[in-house]
Amino acid sequence: LKTGDKELSLPVVQAAEGNDGYDVSKLLKETGNVTLDIGFVNTASCTSAITYIDGDAGILRYRGYPIEQLAEKSSFLETSYLLIYGELPTPEQLADFDQRIRRHTLLHEDLKAFFTGFPRDAHPMPVLSSAVSALSTFYQDSLDPFDEEQVEISTVRLMAKLPTIAAYAYKKSVGQPFLYPDNSLSLTENFLRMTFGFPAEPYDLDPELVKALDLLLILHADHEQNCSTSTVRLVGSSQANLFASISAGINALFGPLHGGANQSVLEMLEGIQKDGGDVDAFVRKVKNKEDGVKLMGFGHRVYKNYDPRAAIVKETAHTVLNKGGVSDPLLDIAMKLEQHALEDDYFVERKLYPNVDFYTGLIYKSMGFPTRMFTVLFALGRLPGWIAQWREMIQDPQTKIGRPRQIYVGATERDYVSL
Ligand code: MLT
Repeated sequence: LKTGDKELSLPVVQAAEGNDGYDVSKLLKETGNVTLDIGFVNTASCTSAITYIDGDAGILRYRGYPIEQLAEKSSFLETSYLLIYGELPTPEQLADFDQRIRRHTLLHEDLKAFFTGFPRDAHPMPVLSSAVSALSTFYQDSLDPFDEEQVEISTVRLMAKLPTIAAYAYKKSVGQPFLYPDNSLSLTENFLRMTFGFPAEPYDLDPELVKALDLLLILHADHEQNCSTSTVRLVGSSQANLFASISAGINALFGPLHGGANQSVLEMLEGIQKDGGDVDAFVRKVKNKEDGVKLMGFGHRVYKNYDPRAAIVKETAHTVLNKGGVSDPLLDIAMKLEQHALEDDYFVERKLYPNVDFYTGLIYKSMGFPTRMFTVLFALGRLPGWIAQWREMIQDPQTKIGRPRQIYVGATERDYVSL
């Protein structure tokens, strides 16, 4: 337990937890900030100037700019620049960043061949993390974490190549041919074309779809110390290069509890639809904990209020799914469920409000992405945040190699006896 510059021992922590009546709130009042680090729940704490979250008030800001303003006025590329370099770019800086990224979208032909080594039904996520890890072998000229120029070129390479790798991972998983990037297109347009287009066939880009995907990438661009981001920082703290650290972050995101939440929401909504679309009956089951029924996409570890991204993404869901005035049955179910949650004391008391994942699966599905691509899309969005966090960690002279604290609970000493 750390209080200011004092470090208290384990018995005091146990006392603080109430074993002999020590009052944590009293300790708080006496000493100011108190961090209870019981080793198991935190990897390593850090200071950061990238993303500000006030979970009680439902506030999310990148470098001080409210997510609502960035969602309305910015592009994913501009938001990425803001996260990585700390300031919004001038038009010239943005054009230069854009140009540099467009020049690096191609994958080395040998790296393209790498995809054929995976089984035909390979999930695109491990293919993505493996290919990113393999970038260290292709770009050995830019692996020094302390050489600013090398970090810069690795940053641009990652931003440029991840959409290509992601699209190829998808093409591989559905057995379709790869498309070379078209550098007359923006990052988001290029990704959509490489994913859904076919070689030598024109691909009609739907501007509404491009805008919606760009917005979703902005909303996922950073979220302070979550599982994947702290993984990127922890791996990077050993001075592993940017490619290796980002690859580790992608693997952390692959777990169902992190990046897989929107897939569970979609499955839940499809389940309700299959059972006749009776939302009341579903809610009853959730409240009575019947049949192992679980409510997905509600509540968030940090937001004790509404997830600010959910409000933005809800609007996008309506634009994309209710195109041409035809309402989407799954979105209708989602809306009824949300309505319930906002009106029912059971949900209100438990602060169960829809989070960002509640709508994104629906949107991705209607865009044509299979569920296997959902975490890949999350990784595309989170990339600039991971890069910014890695760079901040490397540039901080206080950074030490990460070493999560452990509380040993096993036997302390045993005599060896042959069994
Ligand atoms: C999110 O975007 O909600 C996350 O990365 C999950 C988290 O913050 O823990």
